[in-house]
Amino acid sequence: MSHRSVLVLLLTVAIGLAFGEINLLKNADFELSTFSESSGAWYANGCSATASDDSYTGAHSVRVTNRRGTWAGMSYHLTLKPGTNYYFKAHIKLQNVPTHDLTANTQVMVFLQMTSGSKYLTLSENKVMQPHIWQAIGGDFTTPADLTSARLYIQSKDASVNYLLDSSSLVEIPPLPINWKTTANATIDKMRKADITVSIYGHSSTKDLIGVTIEVIQNKHEFGFGSAVKASAMTNPQETTYQKVFYDNFEWATIENFLKWRMMEWTEGKVNYATAMNAVDEMLKHGTNIRAHNLFWDRKSNVPAWLANTTGQALIQQMERRINGIVPRTKGKVEHWDVNNENIHGNFFESGTGDVNITMWMFKEVHKVDPTVKLFLNDYGVVKDRYSTQDTGQHGALIMLQDYYNQAMMFKARPDVPLYGLGIQAHMHSSIDVSVVKYRLDQMVATGLPLWITEFDLDVRDDNSRADYLEDLLTLFFSTPEVEGIIFWGFWDGNMHAPIRALFTGSDVKPNAAGRRYQQLFKRDWRTNITTPIASGHASLRGFRGQYTLRVTKAGHTLKEEKFTLTSKGADLNVTVSGSGNTMQVSHILVG
Ligand SMILES: *[C@@H]1O[C@H](CO)[C@@H](O)[C@H](O)[C@H]1NC(C)=O
Ligand SMILES: *[C@@H]1O[C@H](CO)[C@@H](O)[C@H](O)[C@H]1NC(C)=O
Ligand SMILES: *[C@@H]1O[C@H](CO)[C@@H](O)[C@H](O)[C@H]1NC(C)=O
Ligand SMILES: *[C@@H]1O[C@H](CO)[C@@H](O)[C@H](O)[C@H]1NC(C)=O
Ligand SMILES: *[C@@H]1O[C@H](CO)[C@@H](O)[C@H](O)[C@H]1NC(C)=O
Repeated sequence: MSHRSVLVLLLTVAIGLAFGEINLLKNADFELSTFSESSGAWYANGCSATASDDSYTGAHSVRVTNRRGTWAGMSYHLTLKPGTNYYFKAHIKLQNVPTHDLTANTQVMVFLQMTSGSKYLTLSENKVMQPHIWQAIGGDFTTPADLTSARLYIQSKDASVNYLLDSSSLVEIPPLPINWKTTANATIDKMRKADITVSIYGHSSTKDLIGVTIEVIQNKHEFGFGSAVKASAMTNPQETTYQKVFYDNFEWATIENFLKWRMMEWTEGKVNYATAMNAVDEMLKHGTNIRAHNLFWDRKSNVPAWLANTTGQALIQQMERRINGIVPRTKGKVEHWDVNNENIHGNFFESGTGDVNITMWMFKEVHKVDPTVKLFLNDYGVVKDRYSTQDTGQHGALIMLQDYYNQAMMFKARPDVPLYGLGIQAHMHSSIDVSVVKYRLDQMVATGLPLWITEFDLDVRDDNSRADYLEDLLTLFFSTPEVEGIIFWGFWDGNMHAPIRALFTGSDVKPNAAGRRYQQLFKRDWRTNITTPIASGHASLRGFRGQYTLRVTKAGHTLKEEKFTLTSKGADLNVTVSGSGNTMQVSHILVG
């Protein structure tokens, strides 16, 4: 390897590119201090640009000052192919935020010139960016078929903001290979399954084992397959069909509304715990695991109306009251709490308390009351979600995943903040390119944190296409080892916020094509149910991780059953028999 290629390799690794990715930008690490438009690389657009020794990677970054407008900042004339998916990423450090603000709003924009016209795309928006910290910005975009030229802008909504920029990259998002599902299936087999061995002891000869059969039946998944539910429907004797279909198809539940502060406490001081907690208790009787959603919600429109003007110490006291009211009640009953929902999109509690890190405080306070519940951030605009007005008609939603990434890394770097994992809402829309979804998901995988798909649904009108997309996305998620569970955002058109996305429809709650596809995966393809004779006294099997029953039968009669859990370590089952022929019995089954 030449010195030059070693250098390129080191730089590539430093900037954070995956193996084989080619950075299309020049002076990507801002080591050269020429920032004129004629350089064919990064240039100062309506601002001053000088080299800085404060760098994210390499020896220098660029320092941007004297911005002449909100649009001004570093810019780049891009040479791009039409009809291609790209991902842009860079690292920014704001040197100041607007006076009287805790954070600044920073955007990456792309201007696309086409033969048919032109448009601006917002690649990413970091609404709540703190100063003095290196943070990632960027996102993906798709070039139109009639593209003639493109330009990139790094801007901030307030012209007074100065920033450092470093470690930039622009890569083509690789299309998934045609056979990606073969690879995904192999990963599923490797990551989601484990070995089961069954050995029989105590028989005097293998003849005794003629007619002996073992059944290895999975009762529950280690992976979380769940749905949002309507709390009142889970306890209503009129809704038994809904309940039965839920228990038959899902093992985890999120109460869609009745654990939210606004819904529980319409009137200050009159808290309705019963609707949610009765549903929780009922579902626990059925062995359902519960994700609690959500303790706080950072968007002003979602906090209790009576709280909207509360600030300072009074707001802190209300937050303490909320935590001390609900968390002791859910303690020991729920597995997860979403702590401050959508806080990359809102900042009610930050601005109200004047503490830009108030969410970290929430995590610590909840943890004091319930040290075992797993605490999550939960947000949208990560893999794909609703469209912003500005982006309507474009290839996708306004993606804020670098913001989410920054926040996750900031929390993770603080050992005093008990963040367990990241909730990715995933309300998906019709133009879904699985390659792009995977690339986005991989950015979240890079946090090293457990991921949950928390609010999954598909806005695809045709049931059969929805079934196909569903299978693609479930396969992608299930084959990503860091993803620990998938919660649908409702399943029945009778009580979903978006009935068109249902898996089950009508008064008899029957599966449609998408529901049947889900059942095929959840109940059959991704579930273990093996019946095999064990004449040799030994069986080596492989099963999906989760909870099981081992049943030993002879000539159709059950001799003994034993429950066991199959973890990543595998399960080793010793069956000791006594007697022979018709009097043969299983005296005990040891599980290891
Ligand atoms: C992947 O696994 C699913 C579920 O078992 C199966 O239906 C599908 O045919 C497999 N696909 C490939 C390409 O192997
Ligand atoms: C909060 O302030 C706004 C604007 O002053 C006012 O319209 C609203 O009624 C107030 N809400 C409460 C609950 O006090
Ligand atoms: C917020 O927390 C981050 C991460 O620990 C820290 O770098 C930053 O200085 C904090 N901001 C304030 C205003 O305390
Ligand atoms: C397991 O498979 C057997 C035979 O195919 C079937 O009768 C039984 O219902 C299955 N059990 C479960 C729990 O799926
Ligand atoms: C099963 O029996 C084998 C051989 O006696 C022994 O090594 C192993 O530890 C046993 N496993 C369990 C779970 O008891």
